[in-house]
Amino acid sequence: MSTADTPEPTPGKRGRVNRRGFLTGAGIAGAGLAVGGAAGAGITYSATADQSSDPGAATVPFYGDHQAGITTSQQNSLVFAAFDLKSTTVHEVEVMMARWAAAASLLAEGKPVGPVESRPEAPPADTGEAFDLGPHRLTVTVGFGPSFFDDRLGLAAKRPAALAPLGQLAVDTTIDPSISGGDICVQACSEDPQVAFHAVRNLARIGRNVVTLRWLQEGFGRASATSTSQVTPRNLFGFKDGTANIKAEERSVAAQWVWVGDETDQPWMSGGSYLVTRKIRMHIEAWDSDDISDQERIFGRTKDSGAPLSGGSEFTDLDFTATSADGHTEIDRFSHVRLAHADNNGGAQILRRGYNYTDGIDTRTGTLAAGLFFMAFQKNAHEQFARIQNNLAQDALNEYISPISSSLWAIPPGLTEIGDWYGKKMFGYQG
Ligand code: HEM
Repeated sequence: MSTADTPEPTPGKRGRVNRRGFLTGAGIAGAGLAVGGAAGAGITYSATADQSSDPGAATVPFYGDHQAGITTSQQNSLVFAAFDLKSTTVHEVEVMMARWAAAASLLAEGKPVGPVESRPEAPPADTGEAFDLGPHRLTVTVGFGPSFFDDRLGLAAKRPAALAPLGQLAVDTTIDPSISGGDICVQACSEDPQVAFHAVRNLARIGRNVVTLRWLQEGFGRASATSTSQVTPRNLFGFKDGTANIKAEERSVAAQWVWVGDETDQPWMSGGSYLVTRKIRMHIEAWDSDDISDQERIFGRTKDSGAPLSGGSEFTDLDFTATSADGHTEIDRFSHVRLAHADNNGGAQILRRGYNYTDGIDTRTGTLAAGLFFMAFQKNAHEQFARIQNNLAQDALNEYISPISSSLWAIPPGLTEIGDWYGKKMFGYQG
């Protein structure tokens, strides 16, 4: 059984890192290909007293069949970074991936990636802003974009067929290429935004000779639920979002729709998943002047409880046949839930894990530059996300939203143990 996809938080066993450990840890600076974890990094830390009652000390297991941060019960903060390759020397990319794995395993336990004062004349190995915060259920999830497999590294033969670019979809008239795509992605999620930021910042720093940041997106609140134990949160249109999502507890559903299996043409992806990220600007001011009855018609659910307009409560099944006294279907034929529902997409489902975002003000119009950083994990994005998105070309919601970035990522399976690293099998090493 996987450990990394355990939905519930695991209290930190070692508590927070004390300052002595912070100052004297050996760091991962020397981590090579044989090194992939905390022990390999040769760092010893003294634990403080048991702080399992401290929510900041809660951890999500790092090693497992799948990377954490997918079916993991969704944390409240996101920092998502896309990187482009600066180096095209395969060995340098491999070493960076091994160092990222070592760093991520430490960060997941709330430890710094290296010492602050080992060499007074050198910059500190860890930037320090998460020291004292605890991991807050930090997960770091790493993936590869289609462009990673172009000719630069000589890895074209390793590109899975399912990682063919999504291309321009029907609604994609406002996509900005400068905030789309990239060779490598890092998703950091935590209950504390500074912890998530610290993780991405330090990975960027470790990789600075190999990769360069292409774009970065913060998410300030979860806009989905990935566990039955979570309350469904609300998106920036004020509606409950994540009600009909795939939940971690539905393991057979996840096996069918989220995890890549033996059907893949690239065995290194078995146990992985494909992630679609879409930054969707929501036209909040226009929405806020729309009638509540029209808002509910657009989604097909009530704003208050999230119940389907066909009746019941939040988790009642949608009834597309229910009609009102005047003969209209209760759930409008152009409503979001109707067009997105599995029954109207050949059974296809996706695991949504998006975040509310704001970039402040759109200075051209003086309106809020805010929306949904939509993220969805699945076995095959062409057969799942794209199919649903194409059906949503008629979505009544489209009047109020504009997708401005679109990317597809191959998320390799989980790291099995210390010594494993991101893409190790893909690069041709034994697992
Ligand atoms: C800003 C854009 C979007 C907003 C505000 C939004 C909001 C919502 C809301 C409120 C629900 C109903 C509650 C729930 O079941 O989660 C929902 C359901 C859903 N949405 Fe979206 N959504 C957006 C974009 C998308 C996109 C781009 C896709 C996929 C292409 C998508 C796929 C789905 C699916 C599959 C469901 C569940 C339908 C069902 O089976 O009942 N959504 N969304």
